[in-house]
Amino acid sequence: MFEEGQLYSPVTVGEDGQVEVHLGDNHPGFADQDYRARRSEIAAAALGWKPGETVPRIDYTETENEIWRTVSREIAPLHAKYACRNYIAAVEALNLPTDRVPQLDEVSAGLKGLTGFEYVPAAGIVPLEEFYGSLADGQFHSTQYLRHHAVPLYTPEPDIIHEVIGHGNLLADPQVAEVKRLAGAAARRVQTREALQVVADVFWFTIEFGVLHEDGEIKAYGAGLLSSYGEIEEMREVEIRPLDFAEMATVDYDITHYQPVLFAAESFSHMVDEVGNFFATCDDDTPAKLGVAAKA
Ligand SMILES: [Fe+2]
Repeated sequence: MFEEGQLYSPVTVGEDGQVEVHLGDNHPGFADQDYRARRSEIAAAALGWKPGETVPRIDYTETENEIWRTVSREIAPLHAKYACRNYIAAVEALNLPTDRVPQLDEVSAGLKGLTGFEYVPAAGIVPLEEFYGSLADGQFHSTQYLRHHAVPLYTPEPDIIHEVIGHGNLLADPQVAEVKRLAGAAARRVQTREALQVVADVFWFTIEFGVLHEDGEIKAYGAGLLSSYGEIEEMREVEIRPLDFAEMATVDYDITHYQPVLFAAESFSHMVDEVGNFFATCDDDTPAKLGVAAKA
């Protein structure tokens, strides 16, 4: 069971309209005033956006573009080794820049022709119902900030590198895009908090941290693995269990650490069939069927 809110730094708007991002004291940018001001500036752009309007473009600095370049360069050989074939093909199809941070409208333009998904800005945490529900409409809420430049290969929060290098590339695969749409439809369909939490838990262990068997090896299809320099290497050291939705919904996990247990599909098509079918049929009875204890 997890609370996605743990992941994001809170964003507040003061009475004077001042937007502020509150970094935890263990955040790499905590003591950097310039970084904090930049985070608030980027969050304010997202908060000012209304559906139907043009998505705000961020004028990325050379430091920010350099973070993107570093991660793109360092993670490419890891993708070649550890990413599933469909992800590698999707990266080629979407063909995003590796030398600068892409704008969300560029990501949308690429995805539109491939799977119809579009990117919209998020200042930080988006409520579960809204985040998952909008996936049903082919919309992905994405942050636009970068991690701190002191540690370009690490982030405690989902930054634009996670959202685009992880999710964006995956959303260029039509079958993954369909599984995400089904997850979104499931989130809209269910009425109880328990059932929504099951959708979120299964999403976590599949779309975020899913692995599968390919050519006798374990490969990643989860966005959290594919966008994390450290975690993708770690993936072969952890306990791998077969796909089991009841376990996903009941196992305790800590999202702030590397995942000690991952669930592997037998193949890419097995993942699409099983995970897709789970989301397509998930309803308010699902928690009871999976043995998830109802909370008082
Ligand atoms: Fe994610």
